[in-house]
Amino acid sequence: MSKLPMKLSNQLTLPVINAPMFLVSNPEMVIESCKNGIVGTFPLLNARTTELLENWMIHIKEDLKHARTENQSDKIAPWGVNLIVHRTNQRFEEDLELIKKHEPPIVITSLGNPTDVAKIVHAYGGLVFSDVISLDHARKAAKTGIDGLILVCSGAGGHGGTLNPFAFLRAVKEFWDGMTILAGSISTGEEIMAAKILGADLVYMGTRFIATEESSASEEYQQMLVDSTLEDLIYTDAISGINGNYLLPSLQKAGMDIENLKKKEVDLSFSESKAKAWKDIWSAGQGVGSIKKISTIKEVIEELKTEYKNALKTNDTFSTSGTTNQ
Ligand SMILES: Cc1cc2nc3c(=O)[nH]c(=O)nc-3n(C[C@H](O)[C@H](O)[C@H](O)COP(=O)(O)O)c2cc1C
Repeated sequence: MSKLPMKLSNQLTLPVINAPMFLVSNPEMVIESCKNGIVGTFPLLNARTTELLENWMIHIKEDLKHARTENQSDKIAPWGVNLIVHRTNQRFEEDLELIKKHEPPIVITSLGNPTDVAKIVHAYGGLVFSDVISLDHARKAAKTGIDGLILVCSGAGGHGGTLNPFAFLRAVKEFWDGMTILAGSISTGEEIMAAKILGADLVYMGTRFIATEESSASEEYQQMLVDSTLEDLIYTDAISGINGNYLLPSLQKAGMDIENLKKKEVDLSFSESKAKAWKDIWSAGQGVGSIKKISTIKEVIEELKTEYKNALKTNDTFSTSGTTNQ
C-alpha cells in the first residue's frame, strides 16, 4: 500500500520526482515539472548566490500560485530543494534560513545527518526525504525523523550507488515503514510501474530530464546524451572524490587521461572551481539510451504518462497461471 500522504498523491499525475541536478536544474525545469504533475526540484547551490536563490524561490512560488488559480487545478505538484548536509557546504546555514523563510514543501537532504533539518521543515508542514546509497546509511537516516528514503541504486546519474534496486528496496523495507523513493536509471513509464510493483511510492528521475529545452545543460551536453548508450559511461571517483557515473566522451574531450584516473579529495562545496569541472565533465545514468531527442519537459512527461498507462494495461492482462489473456 502506498505510503504517500493523500495531499501529495492528489497533486501528482505520475509518481515521479524530477531529481535535483547540479548545474542542470533551474526554476523553469521546476515550474514546468510541477505544472505537469510531477515534483520539480533543484540543488540550492545551483543558484550561485543566496540573493539569486531567494529570487528563484520567490519566482517558483509565485508562478505555481498563479498556475493553481489560473488552471483551477489540484494537479500542480509541490516543488522541492536539495540541501547538502556536509561540512564542505559553506552555504548550509544561509540556505537553511531561506528554507525557513520560503518553506519549500519538500526538502531533500544529501549526506550528513538530517535530524535538525527535519525539525525545521516539519515545523512548517513540509516533508523531508534523504538520499542514501547503502544499507548502513539507510538505517541511520531511518532514525532521524525524516519522511522518505531515496534509494539511489546502481546505474544512477550523479553519485550513483552500487546496489541492485530489487535487493536494496527489499532490505530497506525490513526496517523502514515510511515513504520509499527509488532511483537509478529509471527512464520510462514501464520502469515507473516496475518500481511501484517493487513497493516504491515514488521514483526519482534525473538523466531523463537533462536533454530538455528548459534544462541548463549545454546543447553539446544534451546532444551527447542523445548520441550515447550505457556503454559510454564510466563510474569513477576521479571527478568529485565520490564515485559517480560520467559520460566517457566528455572526459576524453576534456583531455583527461582515462587509463590513469586518480581519486580526488572529497569536496562538495560546489565552489566555482568545482563548478568548472562539472561544466566540462558531464554526468548521466545508465538510462541514457532512452534519450532519443531533445524535448520539452511537458513532452517527456506526456510520453511517460502514455507508457505508464500502457504498462498498466499490459499488467492487467497477465494471469497467475502464467498465460496472457489476449
Ligand atoms: C548531472 C547530474 C547532476 C546531479 N547533481 C546532483 C546534486 O546536485 N544533488 C543530488 O542530490 N543529486 C544529484 N544528482 C543525482 C540525481 O539527483 C538522481 O539521484 C539521479 O539522477 C537519479 O538517477 P538517474 O539519473 O539514473 O535517473 C545528479 C545527477 C546528474 C545526472
